[in-house]
Amino acid sequence: MCGIVAYVGYREAFPLILKGLKRLEYRGYDSSGVALLEGDKLNIYKKKGKVSDLESELAGKHLTATIGIGHTRWATHGEPNDVNAHPHYSNNRRLSIIHNGIIENYASIKQNLVKKGHVFLSDTDTEVLVHFIEDIQNETGDTLESAVKLALKEVFGAYAIVVMSADHPGQLIAARKGSPLVIGVGGDEFFFASDATPIVEYTKDVVYLDDYEVAVVKDGKLNIQNLDNTETIPYIQKLEMELETIEKGGYDHFMIKEIFEQPRSIADSMRGRLNAADAHLQLGGLNGYLDKLAAAERIVIVGCGTSWHAGLVAEYLFEELARINVEVEYASEFRYRNPVIRKNDIVIAISQSGETADTLAAIELAKSKGATIFGVCNVVGSSIARATHAGAYTHAGPEIGVASTKAFTAQVTVLTLIAIATAKRKGTINEEMYRQLLAELENVPQKVNEVFENASRIKEIAFIFTYARNFIYLGRGLNFPVALEGALKLKEISYIHAEGYPAAEMKHGPIALIDEDMPVVFLATKDSSYEKIVSNIQEVKARKGRVIAIVTEGDTLIPGMVDFVIEVPKVHEILTPLLSVIPLQLLSYYIAVMRGRNVDQPRNLAKSVTVE
Ligand code: AGP
Ligand code: GLU
Repeated sequence: MCGIVAYVGYREAFPLILKGLKRLEYRGYDSSGVALLEGDKLNIYKKKGKVSDLESELAGKHLTATIGIGHTRWATHGEPNDVNAHPHYSNNRRLSIIHNGIIENYASIKQNLVKKGHVFLSDTDTEVLVHFIEDIQNETGDTLESAVKLALKEVFGAYAIVVMSADHPGQLIAARKGSPLVIGVGGDEFFFASDATPIVEYTKDVVYLDDYEVAVVKDGKLNIQNLDNTETIPYIQKLEMELETIEKGGYDHFMIKEIFEQPRSIADSMRGRLNAADAHLQLGGLNGYLDKLAAAERIVIVGCGTSWHAGLVAEYLFEELARINVEVEYASEFRYRNPVIRKNDIVIAISQSGETADTLAAIELAKSKGATIFGVCNVVGSSIARATHAGAYTHAGPEIGVASTKAFTAQVTVLTLIAIATAKRKGTINEEMYRQLLAELENVPQKVNEVFENASRIKEIAFIFTYARNFIYLGRGLNFPVALEGALKLKEISYIHAEGYPAAEMKHGPIALIDEDMPVVFLATKDSSYEKIVSNIQEVKARKGRVIAIVTEGDTLIPGMVDFVIEVPKVHEILTPLLSVIPLQLLSYYIAVMRGRNVDQPRNLAKSVTVE
């Protein structure tokens, strides 16, 4: 949600910022803009729509500034239009700002400023903040840096901001609370961005700004202080991201590239942690915490969307393997209730981006009640990764498509490793089972490759259902969360209404929807509920529903009962979701492409949801 890119150095800032904003497009936005310091003039250019619209508008302009700030906006206050787009000027137009987040008390600040004669052009909360900074500077005569700090002490809400002033050439001031901000440190140049993707091609040295920190680049030097002026030494980390991971590499869309990357991303999520031949399983990030996990009376899992679905899979895994009571909560519900959290509870927060506002707030709530928090995140250095006590990264690599695919299977992989490690420590699985699970896990990447052999078949099925108006996805046990995930994928990128249900629940209501126009996707792999699911298929067929079944290789019964089958290789039941979800990802992708949808950036969606 929203992208920030800012640059100060020796290169031309405009093309660099524009390219950076394009790299951040995946996050979701509705307008874009840049501010450039050209001589002593602070010029702002902004436009509703895509970054390419801004680019076309500015084509042919000679923009040679070497300092600038750029933004893609995801509107919260004021409709998406040219005026509300960022950057915004202060009252005297000598300051400009870009902002990600929400200034919750903007209305009262605005009222005061209006009384003092400030004139506002936009409806945004952001414009109020930059006017406020100017006002504080006028009132106190302080430096810009301290005016920024004083203003930030007065505001409630979440922000990542970058401020540029016509009176301070070569200076950028950035700050964050609750919204991400990364600083790239080059030789004599500095980059600011919402994530590392705009930075990685210039430098791998980055600093992740912490909440309440203010970074100032001045005279070619970076200085970081908190709001109370205490200085911190910038902690420079090396980015592990490679440029090719954030480019399409010959694929039509990031989503299909990321689907096909899964054998590698699953393997990467196990690399260095699992070695079946030696019966070795170790998660470095959980060192010292495994006993606590094994002794836990209860695990509470929090997440949103696809990450919540991975949590539902984990519920089965922890209960089945480690015999621990698990509750899976939508972070957004959990945080606004008054949940019972005990000191010996373990909370596992799952998040691809590591920036989801609701998940972050759920963590803070649980932490304040004394629970131990583990994170399962994909983005190194992200807010959630830093807010947790311990955890394990998913190593899926950057996920650019808004619809999560490889992050889901990486999450399930890591959660499976944690569940097995816990069960082993607790003694709830025997050595034979332990070794068998490790060996089977190690083979999963190869089996995912085998599922891809069905891609053209899945494409044919997608063609037949391109114009379906509804879809139902049904599964039982570990395949129930997969049904939910399949339905979410289809909704997100094709805009077809889809529902996921536990297959047995169907007869308690949704069965009323079944007729010859209703496609029903059954997750019908050979597992402990196979016979039951066969009965559920019969119930749908008896009402003329059109059934697509995901079955285990070699199944001879179901193909005779349904309209279409897609096979997945045989695998230990515990690992089923890692294979059964793949055909559903492909089905959604092909249907969405055939419907001409913007697969990587579906309407109304943002990749990381940094507002509540
Ligand atoms: C998945 O396809 C979605 N776009 C969305 O539901 C996502 O999983 C959710 O917003 C959570 O994001 P996170 O994993 O980055 O926290
Ligand atoms: N609240 C600000 C606005 O609506 C910033 C939104 C964003 O994060 O893009 O303009």
